[in-house]
Amino acid sequence: MVWDPQQYLAFKAPRLQPAIDLLARIPLETPQTVVDLGCGPGNVTPLLRQRWPDAEIFGLDNSDEMLAKARDAVPDIQFEKVDVTDWNPARKYDVIFSNAALQWVTGHETLFPNIAAQLAPGGVLAVQMPRNFDAPSHSTMLDVIREGPWRDLLESVWVAVPTQAPTFYYNLLDPLARDLQIWETEYVQVLEGDNPVAEYTKGTWLTRFLNPLDEPWRSEFEADYRARIAAAYPPQPNGKTLFPFRRQFILATF
Ligand SMILES: C[S@@+](CC[C@H](N)C(=O)[O-])C[C@H]1O[C@@H](n2cnc3c(N)ncnc32)[C@H](O)[C@@H]1O
Repeated sequence: MVWDPQQYLAFKAPRLQPAIDLLARIPLETPQTVVDLGCGPGNVTPLLRQRWPDAEIFGLDNSDEMLAKARDAVPDIQFEKVDVTDWNPARKYDVIFSNAALQWVTGHETLFPNIAAQLAPGGVLAVQMPRNFDAPSHSTMLDVIREGPWRDLLESVWVAVPTQAPTFYYNLLDPLARDLQIWETEYVQVLEGDNPVAEYTKGTWLTRFLNPLDEPWRSEFEADYRARIAAAYPPQPNGKTLFPFRRQFILATF
């Protein structure tokens, strides 16, 4: 998966808000070691530094493009290339924070316990994942996939949406955790610009389907998607566009 950090950061503020909200609920005052798992371009990592100025903080990601951007943006934090699917560090951590990353990784029934196993006793796992896959922003991708000549190529990519419902994470983590809180929030994001919902998803989930396509299918797919999204999310009278977006939060102390 090739990332475009510029496209991703075009909507920096609405993407950051859930991380701010999750961070505020972490009950540890003086953790010594903190991981930003799936740190992307390093947009959240400085918030971890602000909250815990004395902690050792590590940003981990498996994208070279994102890591290059992160190292540029936050030179005083250690960023390392790590694939979370085979993450097996030599040390344990006090906080593992992951904002908008684990929805990209399959096999949550083993992934979450494996990540939790990297925590020191009393450690906290704090995760936010989008769960907006039934909204037009995302379900329209499936419509375009099914109605176009690329159907055979792309349908298998779609079925692998890894994010599960809250009951799944409750039943998975409750037997392991001392304390577990799960909640969802629908953020009514206010976006500016021309067809901003299509621009927003082009920085994330839409890339899953554009990346495998060659021209002219790539442009045709995007044009079809953009037209449908413009109709599904028309601008308000003031010219801005509302983009409701549901996100799931998991906060577990072990
Ligand atoms: C949407 S970005 C989120 C970036 C940042 N955490 C934020 O809150 O803005 C998702 C990140 O997860 C990373 N990622 C996806 N799969 C991964 C994996 N298997 N191992 C490590 N990082 C992964 C991607 O490279 C990308 O940087």
